[in-house]
Amino acid sequence: MKKNIAVYPGTFDPITNGHLDIIERASCLFDKVIVTIALNSNKKPLFSKEVRKEMITYVTKKFKNIEVDSFNGLLVDYAKKKKANTIIRGLRVVSDFEYEFQMSLTNRKLSPDINTIFLMSNEKYTYLNSSLVK
Ligand code: COA
Repeated sequence: MKKNIAVYPGTFDPITNGHLDIIERASCLFDKVIVTIALNSNKKPLFSKEVRKEMITYVTKKFKNIEVDSFNGLLVDYAKKKKANTIIRGLRVVSDFEYEFQMSLTNRKLSPDINTIFLMSNEKYTYLNSSLVK
């Protein structure tokens, strides 16, 4: 039977409880969730790819269906390579929407077969982002 695989992309510099909350929700919905670090982001990360990967692996080890990875280039190309049909993104506040909307429509244009699903994190994490943690 075909597995339902989702990718959850981000910079994760560092991963936060807000990201973890989304990962937990996604892990209940999909056979496999690939948490993947975007390496070609415009951001200048504080933590190296290896350290970010280690942090994500450590905090997600209680979930059995999570894989941690990284990618370069277009997200939809990566998703296809991993046989994923869904992109997961978290929505915290209304201001996230415009950026996420633009990104999901671009991804749909590039690859109509891949859907973006938005999950809402717990309201206690709506104020949180990686910059605040740093
Ligand atoms: N809880 C807490 N914080 C969260 C969160 C959550 N659930 N979801 C996002 N955030 C925060 C992050 O910590 C981050 O904070 P920061 O700005 O202080 O670093 C911010 O929200 C947004 O970061 P993130 O979710 O990691 O996304 P991003 O904007 O860094 O990454 C990519 C976007 C990587 C997914 C996107 O650029 C991409 O797909 N790139 C590949 C190239 C591509 O395919 N482009 C075509 C599509 S446009």
